[in-house]
Amino acid sequence: MRRVLITGALGQIGSELTVAMREIYGKQNVIASSRSASEGQQDLIESGPFEVIDVTDGERIAEVVKQYKVDTIVHLAAILSAVGEQNPALAWDVNINGLYNVLEVAKEEGCAVCTPSSIAVFGDSTPKDNTPQDTIQRPSTMYGITKVTGELLCDYYYLKYGVDTRGVRFPGLISYATLPGGGTTDYAVHIYYDALKHKRYSSFIAEGTKMDMMYMPDALMAISTLLEANPDKLIHRNAFNITAMSFAPEHIAAEIKKHIPEFEMTYDVDPVRQAIADSWPNSLDDSAAREEWGWNPKYDLASMTTDMLEKLRVKLGL
Ligand code: NAD
Ligand code: SER
Repeated sequence: MRRVLITGALGQIGSELTVAMREIYGKQNVIASSRSASEGQQDLIESGPFEVIDVTDGERIAEVVKQYKVDTIVHLAAILSAVGEQNPALAWDVNINGLYNVLEVAKEEGCAVCTPSSIAVFGDSTPKDNTPQDTIQRPSTMYGITKVTGELLCDYYYLKYGVDTRGVRFPGLISYATLPGGGTTDYAVHIYYDALKHKRYSSFIAEGTKMDMMYMPDALMAISTLLEANPDKLIHRNAFNITAMSFAPEHIAAEIKKHIPEFEMTYDVDPVRQAIADSWPNSLDDSAAREEWGWNPKYDLASMTTDMLEKLRVKLGL
């Protein structure tokens, strides 16, 4: 049975992954952590082991890993794309030094490490459609730069020290449990809240801007499956392209309209986030993940929209 430490566990992915992993490995075997215990999420904090860990403090990571005899670190603490453009120094510090600290502790204590990369590793010079697994990676955001560096750092610790590192390039993730933490794809979550609450949404991403997306249950399944995948089959172990759907704002709006006919969308484009979106792929080729560890998402835009609206209605008491 694994003993897992999750960093950034109170964020969009971590808040759901902690619950999912506790079902797989047992409550006491999954230690949730974040930089503070006052980010909300009180239920999660009280539902099992929780420790305050700022990932820029390597000694604190080592202390908790030793205390709980952790053998696997799922490293989620990060600064996302839009916040990273507002504060590039913070994005560098958390995303690079945090990952370096996690990998150093993993090397010393014999832990496996699973940490997500992102579609943000690609840039304007990358082929936009059916973006290949192995292609040009010259991102124009600090977030993207930290994610490319992160992929390379994980390769380095695997090749040089034998640390069992694994990771996927997540697209935009859509979920109803926890709001996203300041990314470019966040519009695709906010639109569902506003559709239910106000029957209208103003999109900060322009019409026609396609990006890859995924519903959270598939994202959780990706991490759990990759973590347990046969290592002999993993050729691209730290940087698998994965996707479940690709759409532009007008496509998600049309899908929502099938459930809420009065729904209307307008555009108030944010130039910073639009420039980031324009630099990312329209659609990814995820065949390496399918071949090497059986990646096979369950949700498309239609089934995700049905489920999101149903779950959010309950959550919002509507
Ligand atoms: P999030 O912003 O929702 O959560 C990140 C958490 O990390 C937050 O709770 C934050 O408080 C915490 N954190 C920030 N600085 C910290 C520090 N110094 N020490 C400890 N904790 C700190 O992010 P998320 O969406 O859950 O993303 C998790 C990982 O997945 C990140 O690596 C992100 O780049 C990657 N990813 C996410 C998406 C997405 O759409 N959500 C897409 C691609 C990749
Ligand atoms: N959803 C993330 C972002 O927009 C992609 O890594 O930052």
